Amino acid sequence: MSSESLKELLVEELKDLYHAEKQLVKALPKMAKAAFDDELRAGLTEHLEETKEHVTRLERVFELLNEPAKTKVCPAMKGLIEEGSEALEEKDASSVRDAQIIGSAQRIEHYEIAAYGTARTLAETLGEDEVAEILQTTLDEEGEADKKLTAAAATVNEAALTE
Ligand SMILES: [Fe+2]
Ligand SMILES: [Fe+2]
Repeated sequence: MSSESLKELLVEELKDLYHAEKQLVKALPKMAKAAFDDELRAGLTEHLEETKEHVTRLERVFELLNEPAKTKVCPAMKGLIEEGSEALEEKDASSVRDAQIIGSAQRIEHYEIAAYGTARTLAETLGEDEVAEILQTTLDEEGEADKKLTAAAATVNEAALTE
């Protein structure tokens, strides 16, 4: 595979991520609003702010690569968000529903972790060091968000046991 087509692959991955992040900016407020546990709500709200920054970072990355910032529909993220919102419609706020929100949110974070990891490594291979660094910064934040969700799950699951 030539370097040029590997760059095309990176750009495709970035367009997918750009669409995924933009969808998340719309979905996270709904998830946060539905959260019953204060810590979970605060965590999701905090990650919404980070997610807005992820969109801005991707725009910077497109600029560095001299590519227009375009989205490509990301059906995977669409599906993950749809699955999550079905749960919100079905049940009243409770710790069990919070546990379900965490399940959806962690699936979303893991998708992002996989996609950013791939894009970061592609950028490294292509010698796009600044791009790789920016993607790594976001990747670290996705990892932190996932860890916080695991911590929130401990509290939420305990509460769900006594509901
Ligand atoms: Fe993100
Ligand atoms: Fe995220």
